[in-house]
Amino acid sequence: MNRRQFVRSGTGAASGMLLLSKKAAFGYQANSAVRHGLLGCGNRGTSVATSFSQNTTAQVVAVADLFADQLAAGKAHFDKVNADLGRAAIDEKLVFHGPHAFEQLVASPSVDLIQISTPPFFHVQHLEAAVASGKHVYVEKPVGIDIKQARHALEIATRVKPTQSVDVGFQCRSAPPIAAIAERIKSGTPNGGALGKIASVTGWYFAPASKEHPGSDPQKKDEYRLRNWLWDRAISGDILVEQNIHIVDLCNWLVGAHPLKATASGGRNILTHAGDCWDNYQVEFTYPNDVRFSFSSTQFGDYGVFDAGLRLFGSNGMAAVPYAGPMEIKGAQPWTWQESAGTAQGSGQFAANGSFLDNLKFADRDKERTFIDSIVNGPTHNQIAAGVETALSCMLGRMAGLQRREVQWDDLLAHGENYELGFSVDRFA
Ligand SMILES: NC(=O)c1ccc[n+]([C@@H]2O[C@H](COP(=O)([O-])OP(=O)(O)OC[C@H]3O[C@@H](n4cnc5c(N)ncnc54)[C@H](O)[C@@H]3O)[C@@H](O)[C@H]2O)c1
Repeated sequence: MNRRQFVRSGTGAASGMLLLSKKAAFGYQANSAVRHGLLGCGNRGTSVATSFSQNTTAQVVAVADLFADQLAAGKAHFDKVNADLGRAAIDEKLVFHGPHAFEQLVASPSVDLIQISTPPFFHVQHLEAAVASGKHVYVEKPVGIDIKQARHALEIATRVKPTQSVDVGFQCRSAPPIAAIAERIKSGTPNGGALGKIASVTGWYFAPASKEHPGSDPQKKDEYRLRNWLWDRAISGDILVEQNIHIVDLCNWLVGAHPLKATASGGRNILTHAGDCWDNYQVEFTYPNDVRFSFSSTQFGDYGVFDAGLRLFGSNGMAAVPYAGPMEIKGAQPWTWQESAGTAQGSGQFAANGSFLDNLKFADRDKERTFIDSIVNGPTHNQIAAGVETALSCMLGRMAGLQRREVQWDDLLAHGENYELGFSVDRFA
């Protein structure tokens, strides 16, 4: 199977969107609540589900988590969110605890939409169960941390029913300033092609170190790894696959392709805490037409540095696409997102839960509204294969770095790494 077939094979008939009669396919009244079940009541899961509640007709009616303390905090939080919105508290029967909580949640007839916000290692396992249930699914990035999981996710993508909507948590594409500049950069759109022939891209993601989970006990080795999963390559995918993936996703989307090969370096120069994730990566990706993407990232320190974005250079112009700072095109067709004009690059506030200010301020809101609209009115989405394509792009850079050699896409698919957890979560029953 060549690289295109691999990525596209997961898309099947539902790769794009399917136009269906709203009444026949969806059965929702325009204003009735989409019953929302949250799997993984941590930072991001809580933030996204709260935003769904505040910005859409979704209502959190069920919560599930491996750990009792996380679950209790999630239940209390959403009881308050629901009370503030004049809605009922979560029924105790819809509070699911333990390693099989995800199976109980997806089996519940009282839930329409499953939000998967567990650590990356579990995404594909949980996606499989959620898709099999026939419910709608919002799954966080990355869709898979290794080749085995990526292949599995592509199989799952073929099982998504025309009536199901499945979104992947790449909310940056939905941020209004990014959506607006993308319309100008991408060729083939009515206003597109403003940069002319794209020659090269530079991208960066500089973020503070992730902190130790409060109260986690290093003596309880497996639980400590799970609680501090951001430090652990097998559970997170490493910083390139877990965090930097947003910038690689934007590059793939704006260039309109995935990288064909990569060389990379990096390491763990500063961090001394448990785990094996690197704290810096330098990757040189090559895309079709010899477009080069030079990407640099760090994730260490606690001195207030947070800056992410990319710049694309073409024959007719340069586009700046930062999380914070001027969102603009310079050159033959100059353009600026007005609200970003006077802001400074890197001035954005770091948010471990992904809810940023500045250019990403409305990213979650608009992503969630579009997703709920796909459920209520159609056409449905199936973003699994696109999510896998971006995850594989990051795995390409990771493998090039870890193996200190140039890695081609086909080589990645044939010989890419596979990771194991090394223990069963059943022990947390
Ligand atoms: N899109 C974004 O901008 C963005 C931002 C931050 C995090 N994320 C993603 O969101 C996901 C969650 O990140 P987080 O920061 O909320 O992590 P977190 O550690 O705060 O929360 C994870 C939750 O999942 C639970 N959990 C762990 N294993 C489980 C299992 N097997 N079954 C059920 N529950 C389990 C944990 O107890 C915890 O409550 C990750 O995939 C991360 O990459 C996305």
